[in-house]
Amino acid sequence: MNINRKKIIAGNWKMNKLFKEGLDLASSITNNIESNDRTSESEKPLVILAPPYYLLKHIVDITERTSCIEVAAQNVSYAESGAYTGEISASMLASVGVQWVITGHSERRNIFGEDDQMLSDKASAVIKNKLNLIFCVGEKLDEREAGNHFQTVEQQLRKGLFHFDKKAFEKIVIAYEPVWAIGTGHNASPQQAQEMHEYIRNIVDKQYNTDVASSLTILYGGSCKPGNAKELFAMPDVDGGLIGGASLNSSDFIKIINSI
Ligand code: PGA
Repeated sequence: MNINRKKIIAGNWKMNKLFKEGLDLASSITNNIESNDRTSESEKPLVILAPPYYLLKHIVDITERTSCIEVAAQNVSYAESGAYTGEISASMLASVGVQWVITGHSERRNIFGEDDQMLSDKASAVIKNKLNLIFCVGEKLDEREAGNHFQTVEQQLRKGLFHFDKKAFEKIVIAYEPVWAIGTGHNASPQQAQEMHEYIRNIVDKQYNTDVASSLTILYGGSCKPGNAKELFAMPDVDGGLIGGASLNSSDFIKIINSI
């Protein structure tokens, strides 16, 4: 799929859903999207489901009848293969039909200690294997309170992504997720989201060019829910959302999809 400024709603299930619950959720979303004829094919957002690893192949199978849904892994190894107990490589993900990988999520950075170098290596593994990447960035509360949020996000982008050439950006989506908004119920205001998305687009413009920057899909994540999705997605530089908690319930997730 060509992701040139594509509207995207991605559901990050994190470590939730047992086997049958996961299958039911994916089936319900797929059925709903198939029966939804509100827009023409080209206007429909791309929906991405990011279940835990063990469900990936099953959810690829459930969703493959519609081109409007693709599947993401929530993590990947930076290594290609070999003695890395517990890891899953990008080529393994590709071999079961996964098309996307999320990296840089603040839970991976903060709970599992993934640093900029590791995230840059993971991003490289994703792109090398011709998968699409959702790269997450976002400042912590103290960084925002100190007025350092733009600088923090810029550093995360520079260290994680700016080793790529222009071409790689055809397969890259950025998700701005302020850490203080994730799972807290306190979303960034549409203005705060817009201002950071515009900033991100500007630094990509300066580093690459206007074509790369204006084609880039930038998602907002952090307590996005049915009640606030529409106003967030109405911002000119907000191209969709990365949804955590509200993606675990089919009716809430569908409402968010229908808000774009
Ligand atoms: P949330 O999570 O929607 O539950 O705040 C977003 C995310 O972590 O991607």
